[in-house]
Amino acid sequence: MATGSAAMGTIFFILIILISPVSALDFLFNSFNGTINGTGLTLINDARVDHNVIRMTNDSNQYSFGRSFYPTAIAMKRNSNSSNISSFSTSFVFSILPQISTSPGFGLAFVVTSTMSPPGALASQYFGLFTNATHPTVAPLLAVEFDTGQNPEFNDPDDNHIGIDLNNIESILTKSAGYYNSTGGFVPIRMRNGRNVRAWIDFNGANLEINVTVAPVGVARPSMPTLSYRDPVIANYVSAEMYVGFSASKTNWVEAQRLLAWSFSDIGPARDINTANLPVFEPESSSSKLSGGAIAGIVIGCLAFMMICGSGFYLWWRNKKLKEQEDDIEDWELEYWPHRFSYEELSVATDEFRKENLLGSGGFGRVYKGTLSNNTEIAVKCVNHDSKQGLREFMAEISSMGRLQHKNLVQMRGWCRKGNELMLVYDYMPNGSLNKWIFDKPEKLLGWERRRRILVDVAEGLNYLHHGWDQVVIHRDIKSSNILLDSEMRGRLGDFGLAKLYQQGEVPNTTRVVGTLGYLAPELASVAAPTSASDLYSFGVVLLEVACGRRPIETSAPEEEVVLIDWVRDLYAKGSLVEAADSRIKGEYDEGDMEMILKLGLACCHPDPQRRPTMKEVVVLLVGEELSAAPVESLSELARGETGTVNGDDDCESPEAALRGSTQAV
Ligand SMILES: *[C@@H]1O[C@H](CO)[C@@H](O)[C@H](O)[C@H]1NC(C)=O
Ligand SMILES: *[C@@H]1O[C@H](CO)[C@@H](O)[C@H](O)[C@H]1NC(C)=O
Ligand SMILES: *[C@@H]1O[C@H](CO)[C@@H](O)[C@H](O)[C@H]1NC(C)=O
Ligand SMILES: *[C@@H]1O[C@H](CO)[C@@H](O)[C@H](O)[C@H]1NC(C)=O
Ligand SMILES: *[C@@H]1O[C@H](CO)[C@@H](O)[C@H](O)[C@H]1NC(C)=O
Ligand SMILES: *[C@@H]1O[C@H](CO)[C@@H](O)[C@H](O)[C@H]1NC(C)=O
Ligand SMILES: *[C@@H]1O[C@H](CO)[C@@H](O)[C@H](O)[C@H]1NC(C)=O
Ligand SMILES: *[C@@H]1O[C@H](CO)[C@@H](O)[C@H](O)[C@H]1NC(C)=O
Repeated sequence: MATGSAAMGTIFFILIILISPVSALDFLFNSFNGTINGTGLTLINDARVDHNVIRMTNDSNQYSFGRSFYPTAIAMKRNSNSSNISSFSTSFVFSILPQISTSPGFGLAFVVTSTMSPPGALASQYFGLFTNATHPTVAPLLAVEFDTGQNPEFNDPDDNHIGIDLNNIESILTKSAGYYNSTGGFVPIRMRNGRNVRAWIDFNGANLEINVTVAPVGVARPSMPTLSYRDPVIANYVSAEMYVGFSASKTNWVEAQRLLAWSFSDIGPARDINTANLPVFEPESSSSKLSGGAIAGIVIGCLAFMMICGSGFYLWWRNKKLKEQEDDIEDWELEYWPHRFSYEELSVATDEFRKENLLGSGGFGRVYKGTLSNNTEIAVKCVNHDSKQGLREFMAEISSMGRLQHKNLVQMRGWCRKGNELMLVYDYMPNGSLNKWIFDKPEKLLGWERRRRILVDVAEGLNYLHHGWDQVVIHRDIKSSNILLDSEMRGRLGDFGLAKLYQQGEVPNTTRVVGTLGYLAPELASVAAPTSASDLYSFGVVLLEVACGRRPIETSAPEEEVVLIDWVRDLYAKGSLVEAADSRIKGEYDEGDMEMILKLGLACCHPDPQRRPTMKEVVVLLVGEELSAAPVESLSELARGETGTVNGDDDCESPEAALRGSTQAV
């Protein structure tokens, strides 16, 4: 676990540096493994690691207090004068267990502070955080208290409440612990019986609003916060850099305040904590206080009860176990970026995957339209896979793809797994796929200008996959139905990398060819693994189909016209290339430009992968206004699609060498 999260942490760091110039934090501790510094937290005073959780206070010290902080400060503002305050989101699991349940309680506080050692901080009922001054001075410190003691002098409403504290033990807002269930009913929870309680805190810096939600572990996150506080005065308690962490204290009454898991992010929602394997701290059995007779009575009673219930319980338990296996979240899943959605969330978003929301079902599975609770429209792609191992490897891949961001790629928002079904969540593309706008009799035929712009968009997206990232990402399944149109009718490539999931053959070291007939480069039929050159081939087919308004394989056409590439190449050989252009858009295009596109399409479909242009070169040709004569000339050579050297002599200097480019595999 420790090494896993450390590695993940590193990846996140790299990611964060890429995304934002201001340092950002995003971490997840599903347990606190290791010795003092192995936790990754700075532990102050009596805080310590005990059996993979953090214990905040020391039972044998009368006025014990402890604090634990993430060692790096978060940037709450760009500088001390800035009025723009950042947002963050955090979630954690805690347990508070007193030695004597009727003793005075203390609780624990989540704290955001400019210093790990607030001046004048007191233990006992002050959480090891606040001073006893009647009017504490304004200082950058804000906390959310989970208070298990009632101190009338601080206006505490009860001995089981949550409060917002602005550098003051006297909360500015309090609320009894509990949560609102799905029907809006308030369900109180006891925070002082050792039960694992999960809390979510969302801070919005722009609105100066803080939301706190609590629920017992096992209950899904309630949609309505327990407490919501919004006041511009919060700004006074924020400084440019602040530490986040926890603080707790006690007097001579023993109360174990434990932190079991913690996730935090100031770049998005805090990641989900896997609560499945968290330890449980129950009150110690009080049986030692009972007499032998009472114990005997209880034991006999229990035995009888167990015998009656045993069989029923066993059936229930087996059922539950079977169910759990389906939706078990495994440790490795929590390591992956981007966001993991819960199945319920996606089920609600898609109306339980209702038929009416089905957008289509392609080679990889069904796609549903959905609406998240914040009204964002999404597309949910359900992918079935027969092996969990395959899924795991694939997730590693997908997780790195979640980092790919380009205006011409369909952005992935997250994922969810249920059994062997993987659900990938993408931005919803209101205008559907490109093929619907070109083939057959579309309601509204796409004009040439728009088609050309979409081709440029796709070329730029693919160029980013091939050359814009530290690693060459091969799409493997480029076709017009994988090109989606956003609300502005701009083209975006979808489904990149998905084909990889299906590439692993049944026999080790064999590779099943995946892609779509008509778009597959010829070399893939024999031996080669997909390369960026095979992507180029598929892109060439797309260029041709968009320019010609015909499918790559048109079975209803006369025999010599069935295969689009062959037909266009024949026309080119006859010197009548432009006849291939879509007759429905005649007059909309400049003939020279159309000819260039068709030639480029043919050049990309060159039978020899070595001789296809690279995406960089394609983009230059598609975007470039003034074409230098050389590439166009070599384009003409390449478009012919003849193998063997055209200009046998000085290969390196020949114009087609400029278009040849290099091919790389991942
Ligand atoms: C921490 O985790 C590692 C790997 O999971 C394990 O080998 C090690 O024993 C753990 N250490 C403690 C103190 O639990
Ligand atoms: C933990 O790390 C801090 C600084 O990062 C260091 O000062 C301290 O001595 C370390 N403690 C232990 C027990 O290694
Ligand atoms: C608690 O404090 C006492 C006295 O300061 C110390 O001897 C003991 O080791 C501490 N206990 C733990 C678990 O750290
Ligand atoms: C903040 O504002 C004060 C007064 O307006 C100015 O003197 C100071 O240089 C500013 N600091 C920064 C970091 O901009
Ligand atoms: C604050 O945010 C707004 C909108 O995001 C931006 O226009 C403005 O430049 C920011 N101001 C500072 C001082 O960063
Ligand atoms: C605050 O605490 C300090 C130290 O415990 C004590 O000396 C002082 O009298 C207290 N002040 C108030 C106002 O209670
Ligand atoms: C929600 O809570 C209320 C009050 O506690 C209760 O009456 C209701 O049955 C609960 N609803 C659900 C769906 O659990
Ligand atoms: C806090 O909760 C309210 C009510 O549910 C919601 O409108 C608001 O967006 C939430 N704010 C944050 C920062 O989560």
